[in-house]
Amino acid sequence: TQNAMWGGRFAAGPDAIMEAINASIGFDKRLASQDIEGSRAHAAMLAATGIVDPSEAEAMREGLLTVLSEIEAGKLVFSTALEDIHMNVESRLTEIVGPAAGRLHTARSRNDQVATDFRLWVRDQCDAAEIGLLALMRALVAQAEAGADWVMPGFTHLQTAQPVTWGHHMMAYVEMFARDLSRFRDARKRMNECPLGAAALAGTSFPIDRHMTAEALRFDRPMANSLDAVSDRDFALEFLAASSICATHLSRFAEELVIWSSAQFRFVKLSDRFSTGSSIMPQKRNPDAAELIRAKVARITGALVALLTVMKGLPLAYSKDMQEDKEQVFDAADTLMLALAAMEGMVRDMAANTPALEAAASAGFSTATDLADWLVRELGLPFREAHHVTGSLVALAEQAGIDLPELSLEQMHTVHPGITPAVFDVLGVHNSVASRQSYGGTAPDQVRTQIARWKEILG
Ligand code: ARG
Repeated sequence: TQNAMWGGRFAAGPDAIMEAINASIGFDKRLASQDIEGSRAHAAMLAATGIVDPSEAEAMREGLLTVLSEIEAGKLVFSTALEDIHMNVESRLTEIVGPAAGRLHTARSRNDQVATDFRLWVRDQCDAAEIGLLALMRALVAQAEAGADWVMPGFTHLQTAQPVTWGHHMMAYVEMFARDLSRFRDARKRMNECPLGAAALAGTSFPIDRHMTAEALRFDRPMANSLDAVSDRDFALEFLAASSICATHLSRFAEELVIWSSAQFRFVKLSDRFSTGSSIMPQKRNPDAAELIRAKVARITGALVALLTVMKGLPLAYSKDMQEDKEQVFDAADTLMLALAAMEGMVRDMAANTPALEAAASAGFSTATDLADWLVRELGLPFREAHHVTGSLVALAEQAGIDLPELSLEQMHTVHPGITPAVFDVLGVHNSVASRQSYGGTAPDQVRTQIARWKEILG
């Protein structure tokens, strides 16, 4: 049988395989509420401009609410033959209000309709990402506040580098997630223009009011070019790019939590609520949530690459290729929101093992840079020479199987006779972090300043 929406020029209906590859209702049913909101705004505008009779428009607007409640109640059976959410909604509306429903599609195409629906959906996801990120940032700030002066090792190359504070490490992620947040806000601002009324691609000869529908749908303005309106998906790409960067940050932190919760590090204990056991090894507490967050970035970045690849080389204006945008974005958005929530839960619950952090902070000659700086400051050595002297002292300690602060003054004098007992002040990890007073440094005072700033911003 012919398609009820476009079958006029066809003698036969589509092959089952054609229907299978063409239909998007299986996934774009997630756009139902956006589709109905867009149609209600369109109907109101058609009445206001005198294009359709106000009582018919009102019947359509009411009927659309009925369709929405049926969908929300799970009562509407979607049809693959009707391809997508747009035609499924319109078909059901026709059953409810009769042939007058056929006027809803005046001055509109599925091309501007889907572009509008999808923008509304992605716009909501920017808001959801913002909420998830703010919750995570608050959890990190709480951890930072608790441990503004707990010392731990800072790493480069995952080798002990210099002592830092727990608060400083937590706040590093607050800065990263804050930039993610600003990327979502920025993308939201740019995508907040309305494609509705672009029609198929060229605009319409009906006297529509695009400013009215844009405002009704809380867009800042209508899009200025009808070809652009129906043919670009850069708003979805920006959402996926922001999501990919955010997921990359999540993945790095997740990796640290995996390492930190190991028996070899014991920096943190993840809560029972965010750990799992092993079915064979009774002692195990596995950081599965952290591992999965570490991995989820793959799907999100995969979605970005997939949609970039779909869009690449597409001629203007609409092509059916673009129907492939939705599953990628749906999956990426679901994945990101879940990963953000899981990370927030883990961070809220995790307990730092401060003795282990402190012991690790002083292992690995972590205050060697402090010693070199002291030689420059107190003995006037050029930094390169101080670096060399300190290197020799580290080798001496390593040979003796002890840490730098355990070297005696006599041992130090075999390397440099000018060293005085005052050197021991800078070899302790607490003095080391306290001395890093440069703006943005790891000194507890500096970290507390940043915590206070963020608490004010986050409320
Ligand atoms: N389901 C389609 C999509 O998601 C809607 C637009 C279809 N337009 C068309 N002319 N076939 O892109």
